[in-house]
Amino acid sequence: MGSGDLRALLDEARAGGSTIALVPTMGFLHDGHLSLVDRAAELSDLVVLSIFVNPLQFGPGEDLDRYPRDLDRDVRLAGERGVDVVFAPSVEAMYPDGAPSVTVAPGALADRLCGAARPGHFEGVLTVVAKLLHIARPDVAVFGRKDYQQGVLVRRMVLDLSMPVRVELAPLVREPDGLALSSRNALLSAGERGSALSLSRGLFAAREAFRAGQRDGPALEELVRREIEAAPALRLQYAELVRPDTLERAASARARDVLAVAAFAGATRLIDNVEL
Ligand code: PAJ
Repeated sequence: MGSGDLRALLDEARAGGSTIALVPTMGFLHDGHLSLVDRAAELSDLVVLSIFVNPLQFGPGEDLDRYPRDLDRDVRLAGERGVDVVFAPSVEAMYPDGAPSVTVAPGALADRLCGAARPGHFEGVLTVVAKLLHIARPDVAVFGRKDYQQGVLVRRMVLDLSMPVRVELAPLVREPDGLALSSRNALLSAGERGSALSLSRGLFAAREAFRAGQRDGPALEELVRREIEAAPALRLQYAELVRPDTLERAASARARDVLAVAAFAGATRLIDNVEL
């Protein structure tokens, strides 16, 4: 379905009084994505799921080419979970003139954490999210807390640019052993998958230490760092304690602060976070 068809279909639904939720994804759906669909269905009459591996948010040398894709499987899973409309545009349909010349500048919130490690990433994310919001014009857009900085930035964009949409952030979904669900987990070897558990293990250890009274930010970060440095296949990118919403580094931990981590398992970049 092209964006014109999608617009027409959603205009009709809106005219009939339906509310609309949008769940933007890059596909290769897992239970984390599908939990957003459940939340979207609670919040609206009609659920639109977009699937688009957005080249604009991948840097040179990143994993755009090896990013896992399976549209047939995604469409089936989405249908089984109650998605009403899947919108899976081609790159040419989204960017008919090549990379857009007008984009969304994410500002200083993108200078830290993943934004510091991936220059241009959040400009690409916000630009495509803005496009998707303009195409679908949902009442609510649902994002996951797995990508905590992304959620903060989308909220900031919607506020700063007066976009008429509610942004909902849904909980992070994990495997039973703690690994945060991610499409990129499919790229891990068995050994890397084992090592990847150190991200959640370190975060959980730090959260326990906070519960037991540890308030020193660097000490909490060190618990995560130590766990990751002990894992053979992992290379730490950052482990940082930040305040919610502002993402300022927290020297002294408070409830609701977020401990965020990024590490490479082989060639695959993984992120995770916990709220204290
Ligand atoms: P993607 O990585 O496919 O994630 C799509 C949405 O699913 C995001 O809001 C993300 O936070 C959420 N999500 C992923 N794993 C999750 C998990 N384990 N638990 C809960 N939610 C999870 O994030 C993107 O795509 C893109 O940047 C996008 C917003 C689609 C723009 O291209």
